[in-house]
Amino acid sequence: MFAFLIVMNQQNIINKLIAVINQLVFIILILVLAIVIVIFKFYDNNNPGMAELKRSDTISNTKKDTVDYWKPKDINLITDKSLKEKVEYGRDLIAHTAKYLGPQGSVMKITNGLNCQNCHLQAGTVIFGNNYGSVNALYPKFRVRSGSIENLYKRVNDCIQRSLNGIAIDTNGNEMQAITAYINYIGSNVEKGKKASGSGFKDLAFLDRAADPIKGMTVYEAKCQSCHQPDGQGLLNNNKNEFIYPALWGEHSFNDGAGLYRISNFAKYVKCNMPQGTTFKSPQLTDEEAWDVAAFVVSQSRPHKSVPLDWPDLSKKPVDLPFGPYVDQFKELQHKYGPFKPIVDAQKKSEELLKTKNKTVAIK
Ligand code: HEC
Ligand code: HEC
Repeated sequence: MFAFLIVMNQQNIINKLIAVINQLVFIILILVLAIVIVIFKFYDNNNPGMAELKRSDTISNTKKDTVDYWKPKDINLITDKSLKEKVEYGRDLIAHTAKYLGPQGSVMKITNGLNCQNCHLQAGTVIFGNNYGSVNALYPKFRVRSGSIENLYKRVNDCIQRSLNGIAIDTNGNEMQAITAYINYIGSNVEKGKKASGSGFKDLAFLDRAADPIKGMTVYEAKCQSCHQPDGQGLLNNNKNEFIYPALWGEHSFNDGAGLYRISNFAKYVKCNMPQGTTFKSPQLTDEEAWDVAAFVVSQSRPHKSVPLDWPDLSKKPVDLPFGPYVDQFKELQHKYGPFKPIVDAQKKSEELLKTKNKTVAIK
């Protein structure tokens, strides 16, 4: 009787054990499944390329992890001697504009003393250094600022009249012909109609607040004035015919009709290129520092240019153009320093309104 009870008990225990093991196996299976799912999700999220591959069902392994940035076409490849001379003269005019066209210029005295390459770094060849990579491919093109189709002569004279606060030069003259020959040549390796990768400026996120000139002054003192000087007037070379460090405001600087006077352009330029030696790969300013120092510099005095014909379509004015009238209700001050997000949101809203309006009209 006793022995029978023990056997019963053992049988019971074994049954229970089997039940527990079954449960454990089940739980482990579920866990393994869960882990597999999590790993898959994670992999997908971190590999947008993979996800795309799956979505598009194409088999292509050519997705590179580094962008193929534009490189200027090599001038040494030019075999035609007179073309080569012209292009080289163009490059020199862009690199040392002041020597030819500045206040002490040897050809004409028609500009403020800046060089084109002070803003279009290394004769317009630096990635996100406002380079000329896309120019040959995209000009002539429609520009919203003038509301017209502009050829390259007009665009170059735009920078001469605004960024160099100067007088437009003759389209048929040697200088304009050389400058445009150079710009077109170095970009002639870009397909017509396409934008060269890394041309112009790199985008920079808006701040949530207005850019602050007072904070910007502190940035300026710490990181800019050693070269551009405490008075912002830069430093001339010994011959006094070209800047070593260009002026950032005052009579030798760009006027208020120039692209760089818009705070977003200034902040983008500085973020990727200043202090000197900075590249887009190793910016030295935080986004806030870039916006604030831009606010400080654009709040200093500089030449004024009257441009009543600019932006004929008011609804296409950039958010950071500090001169009214506007289609929106925001004041010039907010269009100068921000915050810009509310302006962008308002623009989007009115565009959507316009679209639905047009739709209803179409249905009627
Ligand atoms: C003070 C800075 C500054 C100087 C100096 C300057 N530019 Fe510019 N340039 C700009 C900015 C900023 C833009 C872009 C403006 C924009 O898109 O709103 C620009 C745009 C251009 C473009 C059009 C580029 C494109 O991709 O559409 C050309 C061409 C050009 N400049 C030529 C010149 C030439 C030639 C000179 C010298 C005679 C010169 N610039 C001097 C700031 C400058
Ligand atoms: C080590 C010297 C140095 C420092 C520091 C420096 N820059 Fe510059 N900056 C230059 C030089 C040189 C150029 C002209 C580049 C060229 O011609 O290759 C220039 C060009 C510029 C330009 C375009 C030309 C013009 O005159 O408008 C701006 C804008 C500018 N710097 C802003 C700044 C700001 C803002 C800071 C501080 C965050 C700064 N720089 C710090 C040397 C310096």
